[in-house]
Amino acid sequence: LPHVTTRRLQDMKASGEKIAMLTAYDYTTARILDRAGVDVILVGDSASNVFAGNNTTLPITIDEMIYHARAVVRGVQAETSRAMVVIDMPFMSYQLSSEEALRNAGKIMKENECDAVKMEGGRVIADTVRRITDVGIPVMGHLGLIPQSIYKFGSYKVRAREEEEADALLEDAKMLEEAGAFAIVLEKIPASLAARVTESVSVPTIGIGAGGACDGQVLVINDMLGLNTEFHPRFVRRYADLDGVMSDAVSRYVGDVRNSAFPSEEESY
Ligand code: KIV
Ligand code: NA
Repeated sequence: LPHVTTRRLQDMKASGEKIAMLTAYDYTTARILDRAGVDVILVGDSASNVFAGNNTTLPITIDEMIYHARAVVRGVQAETSRAMVVIDMPFMSYQLSSEEALRNAGKIMKENECDAVKMEGGRVIADTVRRITDVGIPVMGHLGLIPQSIYKFGSYKVRAREEEEADALLEDAKMLEEAGAFAIVLEKIPASLAARVTESVSVPTIGIGAGGACDGQVLVINDMLGLNTEFHPRFVRRYADLDGVMSDAVSRYVGDVRNSAFPSEEESY
């Protein structure tokens, strides 16, 4: 199978083939996702929450993102690998100036051999997106609920329910497309608005809590595997109960060690 490229994603939108995207933060998970046929692996700054245990995505640093990215990229380097790897640019690595953003995007691309970067926001970052894509670095946009701005919004509620905010989001999507973004994540917005955006831009939209009309879907791997038992918004479909599987395995191991049932003679030298 060919490696998934920005061109391939464009073709998928044109032919109505849905794009399957998931997050990963480590080598082992990335390998599993790639082999299972995931088209795009996002090294999300959600690593700040689900990997590092922070309350928001704000604390994660560019060096920490690069560390995760390197592990993920190594997971998709087999001859048969095909997933595209996109790295989230962390909070304050691209907001200061287009110059600074380009320097950091370049650093991320150089140190990881990844395929693209992702940044949050619309018109505010349009010039920056243009600057970065102009030098050949593909940029994925992210609109709607943008977690790096959580302190401005003050809640994780659905975004753009009102007409004014919806129109502004549609305009933002067009500006990102215009600026050269190759795809746009739409997070937690009404399905009808996501459908409107998807029809109005030529680049693929990838939804999370944005309904079925998007050109693709993305979920945080920990959420869809059931590793996050405290977090269950309606948009997360749980495909496994890994919390249960891991808890059971670990408590059986602890029991076996305590009553000397592990290791056995066959497990010894
Ligand atoms: O960081 C992340 O996991 C994301 C996805 C939810 C799109 O940005
Ligand atoms: Na993110």
